[in-house]
Amino acid sequence: MAGRVVLLLLSLLLLAASATKPCPCRCFPGSACWPSPQRWNAFNHTLGGKLVATVPAASVCHPNSTFLPYDADACHDLLDRWQVTDTHSETSYSPMAAWFANFSCDPHLPNTPCTIDSLVQYAVNASSAEDYLVTINFAQAHNIRLVIRNTGHDFLGRSTGAGALALWTHHLKDIEIFNYTSRSWSGPAIKVGAGVQVMEALDAAHKQGYVVVGGNCQTVGIAGGYAQGGGHGQLVSMYGLAADQVLEWEIITATGMHWTASPSDNSELHWALSGGGGGTYAAVLSMTSKLYPDFTTVSANLTFTDAGVSQDVFWEAIETYIRDMVTLTDLGGVAIWEVANGTFQVYPTTLPGGTKEQLQGLMQDTLDILNDNHMPYAYNIIQYDSFYDSFTDMSPWTTVTEYQLGGRLIPRTVVDNNLPALINALRSITGYGAIISGISLNVSRVDVPNNAVTPSWRDAQIDIVLGTAFDYYNRTHDIVNQRLMTDTLLPLLATLTPEGGAYLNEADPNQPDWQWTFYRDNYDRLNAIKNRYDPKHIFYGLKAVGSEVWEEMGDGRLCRADR
Ligand SMILES: Cc1cc2nc3c(=O)[nH]c(=O)nc-3n(C[C@H](O)[C@H](O)[C@H](O)COP(=O)(O)OP(=O)(O)OC[C@H]3O[C@@H](n4cnc5c(N)ncnc54)[C@H](O)[C@@H]3O)c2cc1C
Ligand SMILES: *[C@@H]1O[C@H](CO)[C@@H](O)[C@H](O)[C@H]1NC(C)=O
Ligand SMILES: *[C@@H]1O[C@H](CO)[C@@H](O)[C@H](O)[C@H]1NC(C)=O
Ligand SMILES: *[C@@H]1O[C@H](CO)[C@@H](O)[C@H](O)[C@H]1NC(C)=O
Ligand SMILES: *[C@@H]1O[C@H](CO)[C@@H](O)[C@H](O)[C@H]1NC(C)=O
Ligand SMILES: *[C@@H]1O[C@H](CO)[C@@H](O)[C@H](O)[C@H]1NC(C)=O
Ligand SMILES: *[C@@H]1O[C@H](CO)[C@@H](O)[C@H](O)[C@H]1NC(C)=O
Ligand SMILES: *[C@@H]1O[C@H](CO)[C@@H](O)[C@H](O)[C@H]1NC(C)=O
Ligand SMILES: *[C@@H]1O[C@H](CO)[C@@H](O)[C@H](O)[C@H]1NC(C)=O
Ligand SMILES: *[C@@H]1O[C@H](CO)[C@@H](O)[C@H](O)[C@H]1NC(C)=O
Repeated sequence: MAGRVVLLLLSLLLLAASATKPCPCRCFPGSACWPSPQRWNAFNHTLGGKLVATVPAASVCHPNSTFLPYDADACHDLLDRWQVTDTHSETSYSPMAAWFANFSCDPHLPNTPCTIDSLVQYAVNASSAEDYLVTINFAQAHNIRLVIRNTGHDFLGRSTGAGALALWTHHLKDIEIFNYTSRSWSGPAIKVGAGVQVMEALDAAHKQGYVVVGGNCQTVGIAGGYAQGGGHGQLVSMYGLAADQVLEWEIITATGMHWTASPSDNSELHWALSGGGGGTYAAVLSMTSKLYPDFTTVSANLTFTDAGVSQDVFWEAIETYIRDMVTLTDLGGVAIWEVANGTFQVYPTTLPGGTKEQLQGLMQDTLDILNDNHMPYAYNIIQYDSFYDSFTDMSPWTTVTEYQLGGRLIPRTVVDNNLPALINALRSITGYGAIISGISLNVSRVDVPNNAVTPSWRDAQIDIVLGTAFDYYNRTHDIVNQRLMTDTLLPLLATLTPEGGAYLNEADPNQPDWQWTFYRDNYDRLNAIKNRYDPKHIFYGLKAVGSEVWEEMGDGRLCRADR
């Protein structure tokens, strides 16, 4: 009897101890704490059957996989489609940034094991606020890592996670267009569900004669990491970033509140969600953003190479183009260009509301250099009746970016006062075999609201994104290239732009001093908001605000950094 009392006391003490000292790590598959199959079934039942177990499509390429049976034809077909964004964005688990799939169940590597160790284990195919609530509660109750997954575009792998449960938002496709009235905006607006993608929003707006600020990639989730992280596209010099358009966020918080966040309600959350990064402060159910009447638009594309000319001439043409694009952005235009393999491509340069004569005038200096040096080039300039027509005709359908990224926002002062030094840095970077993508823009040309978009964006003339090659067959090679990005290539731009920063959505996953580089002086305020509305750090993303609370172990498991 006394023994039993002692035992009881002991277990009470143990309970008390475990209550005061929370488990330092997230529960991982294989651990005793991981829910039993019965528990998962019960959860699925609560969800009305919306729980999806991860079955990697590429298991058809792996002879011994425990998932789908081996099928050579299906594997061949999958490999053909691997670079198409839909191949990933339609699934509940596949990250587009290949590094974060960790070479597991890779269609390129049929002779390696097919595992889902680095992927989410399950996803909830959400269709309602109730689904969000039940999912967040289940993850909390079982101490499981929660990932919000929309399309899987994230370059820093923030929509995947080892041993995680995904809140999968892809099927929240409702779109509504209406006249909105508030103190800050009276006019047309679009309300999009969390799963709506850029092209779907553009199509819906177009049917009623409107345009919406969206990305250059048609399949990015407009209300997901895109607008929550900033969101650039061909209309940003006209209207500001996608985050600047948001009138309301409809959200479920980590503590289960179903709220509207606007400049008048829960305004702190509205501030943070508009540019402070996806998957961090709350789970978004829908976003309501400004619409604008569509207008005529002129676009041009151009391709030339260094064949037959010196590097000096090749780069002189590029320098001239970049300088003239400053004037383009002053007029409300955006230019998207790329230097790779001795080829310069513009796809496209867009001047919304502009005329062919205006744009031709801005391209002429560059064309003169090409003509003077007898450099062959391909050039098209077209005046369209609408921005929509320009976008659908002139913007190539984007594929998965098979490069390892790094990025830097280049302040206007550098382009205005120090362009030759910038060109020298870009020349050095291509010398290392990296590709350079640049977007010339001005996201503070018009009045934009005060939100969490990093101040680096407001001063930026060019968003530069660098890519080093990714090799599906050689992990060592990939790590060497990641180091090259972090230690050599980005510092070449950083020294030129000490006041600059980087766009958190197009950045180096290993970026040092990331709090400052991605968020600048917004960091402390964002971190305070994060801690207020997600005190238990249910939402986590690599280099997201507050993520330093966690440490990712070698196997991907999250453990408290202060354990
Ligand atoms: C091919 C390609 C082209 C791109 N083009 C552009 C471009 O033109 N302009 C631009 O600005 N960016 C562009 N990007 C970057 C893009 O903005 C980011 O990858 C962005 O994170 C994508 O958001 P998503 O919701 O579609 O993706 P996901 O990878 O599914 O999610 C990204 C992040 O947002 C979070 N998130 C998603 N949905 C929600 C939600 N409902 N509530 C809370 N958090 C959520 C996720 O947890 C994750 O942290 C491009 C990326 C790729 C791969
Ligand atoms: C959840 O239930 C549905 C419907 O019964 C079923 O199709 C699905 O396979 C279940 N999910 C899991 C993970 O068992
Ligand atoms: C598949 O299993 C067979 C039989 O166990 C084994 O010989 C073979 O090496 C395995 N292949 C792979 C790719 O694991
Ligand atoms: C997810 O739910 C949608 C309906 O909201 C359905 O059309 C789709 O087939 C489901 N997908 C999976 C993989 O369960
Ligand atoms: C908004 O109001 C304007 C002016 O009254 C009207 O012309 C337009 O059709 C309305 N738009 C929508 C989407 O209801
Ligand atoms: C550059 O050339 C390499 C090797 O030919 C090729 O794999 C790569 O796709 C090219 N990159 C671009 C952006 O064209
Ligand atoms: C340039 O635009 C024209 C007209 O839309 C198109 O036919 C061509 O394919 C484009 N070129 C490139 C390289 O994108
Ligand atoms: C953007 O345009 C505004 C208004 O013309 C100007 O004041 C500002 O300097 C420009 N900023 C950049 C980064 O080009
Ligand atoms: C993999 O890449 C590394 C670093 O670039 C290189 O040294 C090595 O030879 C490569 N391995 C193979 C098998 O190609
Ligand atoms: C990635 O793969 C390596 C090698 O197979 C493995 O040791 C590691 O645990 C994996 N990491 C994750 C996050 O799955």
